[in-house]
Amino acid sequence: MARKDHAHPKSRRWLALLLVLGAAVAAIGWYELFREEPQNLDGVEAYYRYGSIGTEQEEGLPYWVWRVLPEVFPQHLPGDGEDAGYAALGVVWEEGEPTPVGFSRKTIGFPRIGINCAACHTATYRTAPEAERRIVPAGPHQTFDPQAYLRFLGDAAADPDFTADTLLAAIEEETELSWLDRLLYRFLIIPRTRDGLLEQAERFTWTDDRPRWGPGRIDPFNPVKFHPDLLALDPAEDDTIGNSDIMPLWAMDEQEGYALHWDGLNDSLTEVVLSGAIGDGARPDSLPVESLGELETYLRDLAPPPYPFDSPDRQMAARGEALFEEHCASCHGPEGGCTGTVIPQSEVGTDRHRLEMWTAESAERYNAYAEDYPWDFDAFVKTDGYVAKPLTGIWLRAPYLHNGSVPTVEDLLRPAEERPAVFYRGYDVYHPERLGFIHAGEEAERHGFRYDTAEPGNGNQGHEYGTELPTEDRDALVEYLKTL
Ligand code: HEC
Ligand code: HEC
Repeated sequence: MARKDHAHPKSRRWLALLLVLGAAVAAIGWYELFREEPQNLDGVEAYYRYGSIGTEQEEGLPYWVWRVLPEVFPQHLPGDGEDAGYAALGVVWEEGEPTPVGFSRKTIGFPRIGINCAACHTATYRTAPEAERRIVPAGPHQTFDPQAYLRFLGDAAADPDFTADTLLAAIEEETELSWLDRLLYRFLIIPRTRDGLLEQAERFTWTDDRPRWGPGRIDPFNPVKFHPDLLALDPAEDDTIGNSDIMPLWAMDEQEGYALHWDGLNDSLTEVVLSGAIGDGARPDSLPVESLGELETYLRDLAPPPYPFDSPDRQMAARGEALFEEHCASCHGPEGGCTGTVIPQSEVGTDRHRLEMWTAESAERYNAYAEDYPWDFDAFVKTDGYVAKPLTGIWLRAPYLHNGSVPTVEDLLRPAEERPAVFYRGYDVYHPERLGFIHAGEEAERHGFRYDTAEPGNGNQGHEYGTELPTEDRDALVEYLKTL
């Protein structure tokens, strides 16, 4: 009896000690792996460039692993090595920043990196090869190649050198890790990252036998359609090609009530913003709905930069304006009866692939996706054409049409058979006269992606409005379009 009395409190003390230890380990584990730190960004413009849209939880990579990947695996980057590191993928990296524009760094236990809207919706241009590169938030990215980025990550993870030893050695050249961090990176973070990246590569194998996206383009909805946690459709039963040019996000106020996306699949800006974040890897529970609301407000009255060369010839532009009123304004002018509406594909005649990628079933599944949340989707629809958009900032939206198949406005104003059949996209030096980027010649070939209009989804036919006008009239139209 006495013995038992004696033993009892002792084992209770052990139990208490174990519980305290267990709680401490859990607390440290939580702190090291899951605590969320605010980002402290200064204002909405900084948030647009570097802020988290909630993708780090699900698809974020450990910052330090991400940071050293290009040094450890330069052989998996595209290009001839002239652009070192992530620049080889066409990202824009501002001096002194820890990440390129469009990449957010956020601590959730450990520093992680995710992408945000600016990864795709940020334009750059130069007025000459040696001129300073201008960065335009909300413009359509011309140089970033998201598909090459995905492939780089997948190839790195599949490389036998993707090991804790190799990566930790490279990381410790850049930063100092505590012994606990080293342990976590070695046994948890690096192996989990490798598995996650291999899984992601597996999820994109359907892209292997479809035409390349190339810089400035993505297939925007097939990744969402085929994601097992999103619309869960089967890529084996769907061989559509949705390759489409990135759109600008400036002056969104002007599009109030208009159909959004190239095919007008939704007319609610709020839904398009939230579904954009989900497409990029955010999940309902990590979606920063309030910050994304502020972003939406920011985009509403953001103005595109003016045409950067000598101011357009006023007299000619005035003549062009009259021609625009006559031939284009019904679809593209602010008062146009068809502006912001879907023009049937049978009428506009441009490539059908992007349109067919989005199906009635996809719209139905997206509308059913977030039923249990205070926000919801119910404006997704299936359409039969492409939207006639306002042409604000049209000079910086090259190459043109939904698939980016026509390099300049001048070419768009010619019959399809006279438009370039092959050209290079992704070189961001602007042509001083042609209303489009330089898309041919040695430099464009060296820095650009060879765009072949004969590939499925890349067709440059259709939209032959204005092509019958005499050369002087087409030149005047171009002069006017520079002012928009
Ligand atoms: C990986 C590249 C990428 C990222 C990241 C991205 N977008 Fe987009 N976005 C696109 C492309 C491409 C389109 C055109 C898609 C289509 O309809 O074919 C588009 C279209 C849009 C449109 C429609 C514009 C219009 O005029 O109709 C809006 C609005 C938009 N995106 C907002 C966002 C927001 C907000 C984010 C971040 C939460 C975001 N996007 C992230 C590539 C991207
Ligand atoms: C009947 C309606 C209609 C008329 C008239 C029309 N367009 Fe369009 N326009 C469209 C549609 C629809 C698209 C999108 C087609 C696509 O991307 O497949 C478009 C796209 C464009 C684009 C490319 C936009 C971008 O961001 O890539 C430009 C530039 C353009 N139109 C200029 C003009 C000019 C200039 C005229 C007059 C000569 C004109 N359009 C007449 C309906 C029209």
